[in-house]
Amino acid sequence: MLNGCGKEITDPPEPTPYTLAIPAGLPQMDQPADNGLTVEGIALGRRLFYDKILSGNQTQSCASCHKQEKAFADGLRFSTGIDGIQGNRNAMAIINLGYNRDLFWNGRSKTLEAQALEPVPNPIEMHLSWPEAVTRLQGDANYPALFKKAFGTETVDSTLVAKALSQFMRTIVAGNSKFHKYLRNETQLNQSELNGYLLFRNELKGDCQHCHELGSKLLTDNHFLDIAQRFHNNGLDSIYPNFLGLAEVTLDPNDNGKFKTPTLLNIGMTAPYMHDGRFNTLQEVIEHYDHGVKVSPSLDFFMTKNYPDLQVGDRRELGLTPQEKADLLAFLLTLTDSTIITNPAFSSPF
Ligand code: HEC
Ligand code: HEC
Repeated sequence: MLNGCGKEITDPPEPTPYTLAIPAGLPQMDQPADNGLTVEGIALGRRLFYDKILSGNQTQSCASCHKQEKAFADGLRFSTGIDGIQGNRNAMAIINLGYNRDLFWNGRSKTLEAQALEPVPNPIEMHLSWPEAVTRLQGDANYPALFKKAFGTETVDSTLVAKALSQFMRTIVAGNSKFHKYLRNETQLNQSELNGYLLFRNELKGDCQHCHELGSKLLTDNHFLDIAQRFHNNGLDSIYPNFLGLAEVTLDPNDNGKFKTPTLLNIGMTAPYMHDGRFNTLQEVIEHYDHGVKVSPSLDFFMTKNYPDLQVGDRRELGLTPQEKADLLAFLLTLTDSTIITNPAFSSPF
């Protein structure tokens, strides 16, 4: 049978294309050609993100470690998987990842679709093999119909699960913080916040914007083309016994201690900080940049460019005054887009 357009009416209805509302001032977000956003794909991804069915003993979902009320981080130094095994890396906030070129602290995944395949089988996370996960979803009362709506097939596979999860994650966009509104002339910053902003940009002082890039308003450089501009050693350590960072992927010792630059959007909600969650507060982070940066062979050029005499083993002293530190903190707190934690579209559908 044919309908008015000459199409067989037995065809599954096409999923409904979804246009992401990008806050004014942010760049457009490219979508992968083989996984464009659809209403049904996002809805399926949201359900999967919150469903404990994807963990071995059905006790954890993605949202166990990426909690909406914590801007999709988990508030813990290290997360613990279903078998009670603790990892050694801090759970990352899921914000604006559709703009990123690398996922994970060491950048081992290049697309959200590739990243999303990792947590389910990971023995220290959800610890469920993909064949088992697929069998569970296939046998579920709801999922086959939801996959059909989203992807035109009732046959579940891990690729489609990853696609749906990625679609949902791409919709988590922050771009309406006080700082963004200030840049759009919709609000003012107070004097301390403004001074902090200037310090953040000041090449001779904070110089934070080299990596937590301001031009895109994404507060990370992870959209840059050149990988050397996307990973940095920010001086936390001079040896790296537990976690080499980017060097784990490139096997190049020059990349020891280099990590993905995290966005600073919603940074006030994602404590503790750094790849190993070593700092509990933003004050501690500021103290690190003020006088804790350790000089080592792979330390980023921008960390010492104003200090040509520093030697390996030295520490950098920025010499920020207590007022300057307070101003920097005030500025960092203007980067919170509270819609991330209140938007019902990002919350659990269960
Ligand atoms: C047991 C806690 C835990 C669970 C469960 C978990 N994650 Fe994560 N997630 C982490 C940790 C820790 C990292 C950082 C790991 C690393 O870099 O090696 C991370 C990193 C990520 C990143 C990279 C973010 C970035 O900025 O590069 C994404 C995306 C992500 N997780 C999505 C998911 C999805 C989707 C699920 C469910 C399928 C999930 N996570 C389940 C703890 C968890
Ligand atoms: C040379 C690049 C670079 C510069 C300059 C830089 N950062 Fe960072 N920043 C990073 C990287 C890389 C990380 C992640 C490091 C890690 O976890 O090992 C980071 C982490 C952070 C974090 C923790 C983020 C999180 O989610 O855990 C904060 C906060 C921060 N930086 C603030 C600042 C401030 C404030 C300045 C200026 C005083 C600054 N940064 C300068 C590269 C840089």
